[in-house]
Amino acid sequence: MHRDVERILINGEEIRERLDCVAKNLMAEFASDGLVVVILLKGALVFAADMCRRLPVTMTVECLNISSYHGNIKTSGKVEFLDRKMPEVEGKKVLIMDDILDTGLTMCAVSDALLELGASEVRSCVLLNKRKERAGMCEADFKAFDIDDEFVIGYGLDYQGRYRNLPYVGVMKQESI
Ligand code: IMP
Ligand code: MG
Repeated sequence: MHRDVERILINGEEIRERLDCVAKNLMAEFASDGLVVVILLKGALVFAADMCRRLPVTMTVECLNISSYHGNIKTSGKVEFLDRKMPEVEGKKVLIMDDILDTGLTMCAVSDALLELGASEVRSCVLLNKRKERAGMCEADFKAFDIDDEFVIGYGLDYQGRYRNLPYVGVMKQESI
């Protein structure tokens, strides 16, 4: 275990098993071809790579660079789109993949933007869902795990850009923050 990790919350085996299960649910909904998967970078990189390979459907994959954290452990409350060009989604069925639903701000902003661009349908899938009140904010349509409201790293999730490569989701040591 990495020295900055307090405890492992979800290990690699648990992630793999749960992803198999969520993939089945996704396939029940997106069995027809023509899906556009939109991966929110960089947090969803690891999760999405593992999830997409479990979906035997014809899809295209797009990435969006989104920033809402600015290296801290709290959201700045502002979602920034960092790409110059948005993906072409007009008339298409879109599935957004993100690492974690925290305040829900990011998912709402991205979902609205894709609908604005003419997507026929926008659904969302997250690895982690923080259990918290999100009045008026969107919830994820598909989620692998519900977790308590604490700061986690690994399997794509970072603290100041680090720990994304850890093969598990862990709780960050308070003294390392
Ligand atoms: P939201 O817009 O508040 O839902 O935040 C979503 C984004 O914040 C995610 O895509 C993550 O990048 C980041 N985030 C939220 N909670 C955590 C955490 O516990 N660890 C690492 N990143 C997090
Ligand atoms: Mg992120």
